[in-house]
Amino acid sequence: MQTKLLQQGQIDEAISLLKAGEIVALPTETVYGLAADANNESAIKKIFIAKNRPTNHPLIVHIDSFDMIQEWTDEIPDYAYKLSENLWPGPLTMLLNKKHNVSDIITGCSTKIALRMPNNHLILKIIKSVGGALVAPSANTYKKLSPTRAEHVMQDLSGKISAVLDGGACSIGIESTIIDLTTKTPKILRPGSITKDMIETALQINIPEYQSHTEQVPGNMLAHYQPNTPCFLMTLSEIEDYIRDGEDYNIAVMHFSLFENDKVKLYPIASDRRGFAKTMYDILHNIDKSRFRKILIELPPKSWSDINDRLYKAQYNK
Ligand code: TXA
Ligand code: MG
Repeated sequence: MQTKLLQQGQIDEAISLLKAGEIVALPTETVYGLAADANNESAIKKIFIAKNRPTNHPLIVHIDSFDMIQEWTDEIPDYAYKLSENLWPGPLTMLLNKKHNVSDIITGCSTKIALRMPNNHLILKIIKSVGGALVAPSANTYKKLSPTRAEHVMQDLSGKISAVLDGGACSIGIESTIIDLTTKTPKILRPGSITKDMIETALQINIPEYQSHTEQVPGNMLAHYQPNTPCFLMTLSEIEDYIRDGEDYNIAVMHFSLFENDKVKLYPIASDRRGFAKTMYDILHNIDKSRFRKILIELPPKSWSDINDRLYKAQYNK
């Protein structure tokens, strides 16, 4: 299959392909998603094949209006109204109890359904034109780096999907926060740029801190978001020692503090949390193209829970 790289002016072609049951990578504000018509099971199955993703990993359903929630759940808690009023469209995914007729292919046989209204005019327009929700996992091979530019998707999935719609670089750059609203107290399952504080302000309650966990639930793998080049999280002084004591300088260093070294290749990144998240995957994709032996990543502050979650999984090595 030849994958078409579509420009924004060709959005109608993306819509036609989706209506015809094909899979198309689309921009969102977080990362590019690999979309299919959420009401077309044979189209959804193509996503799992293209990504090489196990079928028990559920997909997020993307909607363009709050009313669409009713197609997916019969139980809309007050918290869902409050969060959507304050934070949708935006990088927040809500987990609710699914309606009985929702396809097990979407939920991986779970009784819960993940829903999100993305904040990107292209995907919102496409959902409206398709006339129903789109399922969309991140548009990357299972366990690999998420894409934040159309070219990242082309490098990874070209030949396996019908098209990529180029909407430029994603404005957030890290996957949505996932909050479980099926429990008495809402619980963050995946940290993102919508923080605990933002959720607490919207809900006017306290919720527990995100706990990284090793439960064997789909989507919570120890190894995930991985570049092809092995990467290691280290403090800047550990990185300095490592370079001083080592002999192999075929190394990339991604750092947010001021750092100079002429033996290795430096990849500076923004020192604020949002700036770091925005270009983190882009820089790692770039490093991967250059075939270094290792990537040393300056350890971010503990409070950057979303970034740490991704980077610890990126470095995990059995
Ligand atoms: O920002 C995002 O959320 C992006 C963009 C494209 O919207 N999507 C994304 O999808 O990150 P994906 O499939 O790469 O990650 C979704 C996560 C997975 O860890 C999946 O297991 C979890 O959401 N998830 C989805 N449905 C679920 C469900 N019913 N129960 C538990 N976890 C669920
Ligand atoms: Mg993903």
